[in-house]
Amino acid sequence: MAVLEQRLLYYVTVLAILLLHCSSFLSAQIPQNYSSTANISTTWINHPLPILNSTNLNTATPILIRGLGFACGFYCNWDGKVSSRDCVFGVLIYQNRFSLPDGYSLLFLQFPQLVWSTNRNNLVQPNATLQLTQDGDLVLANSDGTLVWSSNTAGKSVSGMKLTEMGNLVLFGRNNEIIWQSFDHPTDSLLLGQQLAPGQQLTLTASVSATNLSEGLLSLTISHDGLSAYTESNPPQQYFAYSFYDYPAEFRNGSFGGMDIPPASAAQFMRFGPDGHLKVYEWAGSNWLPVADLLATDFGDCGYPMVCGRYGVCSNGQCGCPETTNSQAAFFSQINFRQPNLGCSLVTPISCDHSQYHSLLELNNTYYFAFNSSSYAKKIKAEDCKNMCLSNCSCKAALFSIDPGEKTSKRKGSCLLLNEVFSMTNHENYMGLYYNTTLFVKVQNHYDKPSRHKIVILAYTLGAFFGVFFVIGSCLVIFRHRLKESNEIEGDFLDQVPGMPTRYSYENLKAATEDFSQKLGEGGFGSVYEGALNDGIKIAVKCLDGLGQVKDSFLVEVKTIGSIHHVNLVKLIGFCFEKSHRLLVYEYMANGSLDRWIFGGKQDHSLPWLTRKKIILDIAKGLAYLHEDCSQKIIHLDIKPQNILLDQHFNAKVSDFGLSKLIDKDQSRFVTTMRGTPGYLAPEWLNSEITEKVDVYSFGIVMLEILCGRKNLDWSKNEEDRHLLNVFKRKAEEEKLQDLVDKKNEDMLIHVEEAVEMMGIAAWCLQGNYTKRPSMSLVVKVLEGLVAAETNLDYDFTNSSVVRTFGDQRQEADDVAASLLLPSALSGPR
Ligand SMILES: *[C@@H]1O[C@H](CO)[C@@H](O)[C@H](O)[C@H]1NC(C)=O
Ligand SMILES: *[C@@H]1O[C@H](CO)[C@@H](O)[C@H](O)[C@H]1NC(C)=O
Ligand SMILES: *[C@@H]1O[C@H](CO)[C@@H](O)[C@H](O)[C@H]1NC(C)=O
Ligand SMILES: *[C@@H]1O[C@H](CO)[C@@H](O)[C@H](O)[C@H]1NC(C)=O
Ligand SMILES: *[C@@H]1O[C@H](CO)[C@@H](O)[C@H](O)[C@H]1NC(C)=O
Ligand SMILES: *[C@@H]1O[C@H](CO)[C@@H](O)[C@H](O)[C@H]1NC(C)=O
Ligand SMILES: *[C@@H]1O[C@H](CO)[C@@H](O)[C@H](O)[C@H]1NC(C)=O
Ligand SMILES: *[C@@H]1O[C@H](CO)[C@@H](O)[C@H](O)[C@H]1NC(C)=O
Ligand SMILES: *[C@@H]1O[C@H](CO)[C@@H](O)[C@H](O)[C@H]1NC(C)=O
Ligand SMILES: *[C@@H]1O[C@H](CO)[C@@H](O)[C@H](O)[C@H]1NC(C)=O
Repeated sequence: MAVLEQRLLYYVTVLAILLLHCSSFLSAQIPQNYSSTANISTTWINHPLPILNSTNLNTATPILIRGLGFACGFYCNWDGKVSSRDCVFGVLIYQNRFSLPDGYSLLFLQFPQLVWSTNRNNLVQPNATLQLTQDGDLVLANSDGTLVWSSNTAGKSVSGMKLTEMGNLVLFGRNNEIIWQSFDHPTDSLLLGQQLAPGQQLTLTASVSATNLSEGLLSLTISHDGLSAYTESNPPQQYFAYSFYDYPAEFRNGSFGGMDIPPASAAQFMRFGPDGHLKVYEWAGSNWLPVADLLATDFGDCGYPMVCGRYGVCSNGQCGCPETTNSQAAFFSQINFRQPNLGCSLVTPISCDHSQYHSLLELNNTYYFAFNSSSYAKKIKAEDCKNMCLSNCSCKAALFSIDPGEKTSKRKGSCLLLNEVFSMTNHENYMGLYYNTTLFVKVQNHYDKPSRHKIVILAYTLGAFFGVFFVIGSCLVIFRHRLKESNEIEGDFLDQVPGMPTRYSYENLKAATEDFSQKLGEGGFGSVYEGALNDGIKIAVKCLDGLGQVKDSFLVEVKTIGSIHHVNLVKLIGFCFEKSHRLLVYEYMANGSLDRWIFGGKQDHSLPWLTRKKIILDIAKGLAYLHEDCSQKIIHLDIKPQNILLDQHFNAKVSDFGLSKLIDKDQSRFVTTMRGTPGYLAPEWLNSEITEKVDVYSFGIVMLEILCGRKNLDWSKNEEDRHLLNVFKRKAEEEKLQDLVDKKNEDMLIHVEEAVEMMGIAAWCLQGNYTKRPSMSLVVKVLEGLVAAETNLDYDFTNSSVVRTFGDQRQEADDVAASLLLPSALSGPR
């Protein structure tokens, strides 16, 4: 429950920011038409505005905007902490923007991607300033005035700054000549059309992770000769190299230095990611999707330096620690056993003062990515290679590769000493590879433990104490063991309870889904695959993404969700909880999700009246059960057509209920709800009292969507028709609600009146004041015709109620948002 509350606070805070902004812009009037150039002697202040994106809620303060393409400005990472707002100044690529449909002039940049920045290692806070000074220097200073970054162009007769069509931020002189440009100082991305000047060499450095923008361990150097990717260690370890030969070092439409890229059908950019891949992303209408991976290694995902963290062993995409053959000593432990990809640490760190206790762990069939051949020692024996490493304390491992054709008995080959050990690759399972390599990893044996002789004496003299300690010690060990294994124990417990979901092994589910080959869909939590159990029963398997987000109490929650049975709720049949795998097994729903049937636009896919009516009633019953009849009230929080599934007889079932409890903090889910559909959220998100009535509101929206056969927010429509609620309000005022009824199916034509009547129930569910909305059980009764619907309704669903609620709650909202250091005025050229 605590997590749920945390989540709610989260939602509330974010909504509060949103609305605070809305209110300030209602009076302040955001400059809708940004310019793409600026003059000297201009200062901008960082006042973060929210932007929506499917995995992160980030904020941006645009400064220059170049059409639908690029913006430069402040960009802030929302890391989930209410108190911190870490921002960079940089260039964003974006392909979609919108203002809230209800007349707010707040501008949202949708799915922007940061492609350049000045200060990712030295983040700034709200109120930081960017100044293009009188003498032509572009200066970034933090809110306390400290200098963070400068273009060092003072006195070089800069006369202005512009953002070009390619996304290049340029300081230009009197004759429009380039004095300084961001293209000369790339961070981790390249833009279409970007090319190297003669003799130029550029280095991209990947960020630490998707959420931490700081420079990470991996770099990529691009010159006219080619590119080289390596770790930022001393010395660097190279994991990829490519020669451009006669090709230009330019990111063109279709190629990059001779490497093929799919021709751009929409905007593209190239990013060197924290995972060490160099990917080309293309705008796919609602998202950026990778279309090419330019650094492909022979070992697939296992061939990258940080895929399994330091000292991690990658085997078929799974991470583990180096295995020890002699069972008594484990030299490595997982840094976080729930996140094996974070790597392993040495149980005893290597100490140069005790080098006599060093030994080398022999890892057969292990490949290491570093192949920078110039630093190999050639034609030496394995023993010599080992000794070279043992006698040199800065050596942490030696990679030995048998020369091709060399007799194995002689074991002569090349030897590479490594100062740092990143991820290793177990290639036992890779067929047809010619890498004959063994990795010798240095470990530290215990050096401070007393000799056996001493222990024997001690045992004699302190026999009694020893016994006592032994008992206590064993208890502790057992206790710790149980703690560690508690998941397993819980799982066993689950196995024994009849009616509870079955526990499956990952192998089982892999077989059941034919290696996850039939994808049914993708949701906010992960992908869903079709499968069949041994007895032929069809199943849908949901793989929960994001290891870090799945809560520890997975099994407890599975138990709760698994114990809920209702004909209008999708049944959880089983689950898998194994290593990094978290999967849920559901009953298979032949007709998929509701959105396919109501937004399809195709006639043969459109539903007749009685089916729609039944679906609406089914959803209402499912929700009424969750809200009122379960031992513990469950608020779904994410009711939308994608989460309503239909069986072969078009019985509707609510899915994904209770999943909010499985996911920690859960940023992604929040924004999934927000993405493109701000209208799905009930206005009282601002109020800290979140009740099951938020589901009633979302249900109202879904009901309206079913009746009208269109999405709540439909970007293909003109501005005034884009938001269904606005149209609904307008048509209600004009008393022309019949215009809204979906007439794709002829059967609907004879039921227009009933549909309009039902819109009244939807309007009731959508009341801005949540206390005026009916409970789901009342909705069921009304739909069944047992009770009459409320008719005294307010059709002003979005703006007025939101703003009014906001006005009433201002103090509270301010309290929530106070720690966010929100702006009170709008930034802009001064
Ligand atoms: C913004 O520019 C467009 C044309 O480019 C114009 O129609 C619109 O009125 C301008 N808006 C404002 C607020 O100046
Ligand atoms: C910059 O200055 C020029 C004249 O010096 C003026 O025409 C132009 O409007 C100014 N631009 C902005 C964005 O202020
Ligand atoms: C959202 O933003 C994050 C970080 O800026 C990025 O990694 C992610 O790819 C973005 N998601 C989409 C769908 O653009
Ligand atoms: C930013 O400036 C505003 C107005 O000048 C002020 O109210 C607010 O406290 C400042 N925030 C920070 C973090 O300095
Ligand atoms: C980001 O990564 C850097 C370098 O690893 C680290 O120093 C910093 O603390 C990280 N920042 C956050 C917010 O985790
Ligand atoms: C090998 O690595 C060194 C740095 O350790 C670097 O100077 C050299 O260019 C690399 N050689 C190749 C062939 O990449
Ligand atoms: C890229 O090239 C293809 C043809 O090869 C063309 O259809 C497409 O419009 C080009 N894209 C851009 C962004 O220039
Ligand atoms: C590795 O292989 C060698 C020779 O093939 C063998 O002598 C050695 O015992 C193996 N080591 C391990 C740990 O399996
Ligand atoms: C020790 O090994 C490192 C590489 O790991 C190498 O650069 C250094 O020259 C070696 N020192 C000696 C004395 O061999
Ligand atoms: C690799 O080593 C094995 C024995 O360990 C040997 O049989 C094989 O011929 C070697 N492969 C090459 C290409 O040298």
